[in-house]
Amino acid sequence: MKTALPPLAPTPATTSSAETVIDARGLILSLGEGDGRVAILRGIDLAVRRGETLALLGPSGSGKSSLLAVLAGLERADGGSLQVAGADFMALDEDGLAAARRGRIGIVLQAFHLLPTMTAQENVATPLELAGMPDGFSRAAEELGAVGLGHRLTHYPAQLSGGEQQRVAMARALAPRPAILFADEPTGNLDAANGDAVSDLLFARAAQAGATLLIVTHDPALAARCGRVVTLADGHIVSDTRA
Ligand SMILES: Nc1ncnc2c1ncn2[C@@H]1O[C@H](COP(=O)(O)OP(=O)(O)O)[C@@H](O)[C@H]1O
Ligand SMILES: [Mg+2]
Repeated sequence: MKTALPPLAPTPATTSSAETVIDARGLILSLGEGDGRVAILRGIDLAVRRGETLALLGPSGSGKSSLLAVLAGLERADGGSLQVAGADFMALDEDGLAAARRGRIGIVLQAFHLLPTMTAQENVATPLELAGMPDGFSRAAEELGAVGLGHRLTHYPAQLSGGEQQRVAMARALAPRPAILFADEPTGNLDAANGDAVSDLLFARAAQAGATLLIVTHDPALAARCGRVVTLADGHIVSDTRA
């Protein structure tokens, strides 16, 4: 690929940085059936401004992943209101939610979830092509180059290290230029060196893309790099501090 990486959208100016990209009010979520039904989120109010970097901390089982899944449109809350990047997530059906996620939201999980039968480039390009972008493959090559994998385009996931696979997942999440990048324990499956490299790239690429970044983590060092730290306990927000 000799195409140069095009400039990403700049981080928004201060006037638009006050724009709210996530507005959650009174979110409640219960999971399980019948007598086994448990309240997971017990009234979450959270407003996130465009361009913020936010860490979601809290003990295991406190509801971090569940909250991320609701905010990212993967799981539907049972009550409350939720606006994400201009879409009313509570008013949409499954297809509507999937359509609203596309292009607005990127997701990186602890497990990399790459398609094993596709090369790195195909993994990144396929969602772009499905979204109707004509230049999906060249865009994918650029995104992979930006995470240091320009020499791994035709490798399959099994031929890549864990850190490399997570960088492919990150390129895939950011390639559609989402307004918000959600990451759930993105370094949880990586050793310290690879984890640090992935964290560095996550912050750098999200900033370059002007994406709001919300990271679920129990790593205090990762949380300390965020401009805002929200702590959950037992399905409630118990603290919310800005650096
Ligand atoms: N499908 C489910 N059915 C019932 N309970 C669930 C389900 N998924 C998660 N939980 C419970 O919800 C609580 C919060 O889980 P989770 O959001 O994964 O927490 P965290 O990410 O903070 O560790 C936990 O007590 C977990 O056992
Ligand atoms: Mg979790």
